[in-house]
Amino acid sequence: MIKFTLNGRTVETDAPATARLLDLLRDEFDLIGTKEGCGEGECGACSVFVNNLLQNSCLIPIGSIAGADIHTIEGITETEQFKILDESYSIAGGVQCGYCIPGMIMASAALLSKNPHPSEAEIREGISGNLCRCTGYNMIVEGINLAAKKGDGLW
Ligand code: FES
Ligand code: FES
Repeated sequence: MIKFTLNGRTVETDAPATARLLDLLRDEFDLIGTKEGCGEGECGACSVFVNNLLQNSCLIPIGSIAGADIHTIEGITETEQFKILDESYSIAGGVQCGYCIPGMIMASAALLSKNPHPSEAEIREGISGNLCRCTGYNMIVEGINLAAKKGDGLW
């Protein structure tokens, strides 16, 4: 039995220690905002926060998260920061098919919480672990830049 905190709630699972956190989130806890893209740590679609650090859940065996504090995209949707990111991405046209967006939002939130006034180069670096097949990135970068300005003082 492995116990950890998930979106602010203490949970436990009997899944094997070698199972992937990504599968546990989606299959056992129905947190399907966390997506599988590559399954190899290359695309960022499966991004979550583990003890406040951005991580690829496809690379995390459940055995390593005992006692950890995990947040998924579903766990941050009520925050002001999420609302600003959501609105800013939308204004900038940064959402097309949407598949990469939960991971992009997690990476954006991680970036802005560390660096509330990033340069364009820093934004591009901040989302460099996240792939998007649709937008060409420019509109996502613009969305993050807008979120930094709209949320000034909040990050
Ligand atoms: S599915 Fe985890 S990084 Fe691509
Ligand atoms: S919006 Fe389609 S993959 Fe990014």
